Amino acid sequence: MHYLWTIKQYIQKNMEEFNISISVIKKNQDELTKEESTLVENAKEATFRSYAPYSRFCVGAAVLLEDGTIVTGSNQENSAYPSGICAERTTMFYANSQYPDKKVKCICIAARGTDGNFTGRPISPCGACRQVLSESEDRSKSPIKVMLYGTDGIYIINSVKDLLPVSFDASFL
Ligand code: THU
Repeated sequence: MHYLWTIKQYIQKNMEEFNISISVIKKNQDELTKEESTLVENAKEATFRSYAPYSRFCVGAAVLLEDGTIVTGSNQENSAYPSGICAERTTMFYANSQYPDKKVKCICIAARGTDGNFTGRPISPCGACRQVLSESEDRSKSPIKVMLYGTDGIYIINSVKDLLPVSFDASFL
C-alpha cells in the first residue's frame, strides 16, 4: 500500500514533510457491478431499521464478507445521547462478532435526512467509526473497500486507510 510505504520512508529517512493522496471514484448506480449494487440496496434498506428518534437522521450500513455473506446495521440512538452508536460501528462490530474469522471485503453506507429522503451527497463515516473500520481492515489483512451512497452518485474508496492516514493502531501499544 502506497500509504504505508510513505510513512515507512518518513521514519527511515526522517523527512520533515510528506504528502498523502487518496483516490475517490465517483460512479452512478448503473456503473456498479451486481455485487456492489446489491450492497447498496442492503445499506439503503437498513436505513429503515434505524432507531433515530432524536436526530431523525437514519443511517444504514451493509458489510460484505469474503464468502458473500452480507451483514446490515443502522444507527441506534439513546435518550442518553452519547450512548447511541453509528450505523458503521453497529454493523462492523456485529459482523466481527458473528464471523470473527471471515475477511471483510467492503462496507457501504447510506443515509436518509430529516425529510425522509436519501441524501444527494454521500455521507462519510465519523472519526470514531473510521478508527473501528481501520482495525477491522487490519484484522482482515487486506483492504476494505468503502462505498458511500448518495442519490447524486456513489463514492468509492479502495481502503479504509485512505480515510484515516497516520492512524493509531495496535503496533504502538
Ligand atoms: N451517524 C451514523 O450512523 N453514521 C455516520 O457516518 C454519521 C452519523 C448517525 C449518528 C446519529 O445517530 C445520527 O447519525 C446523527 O448524527
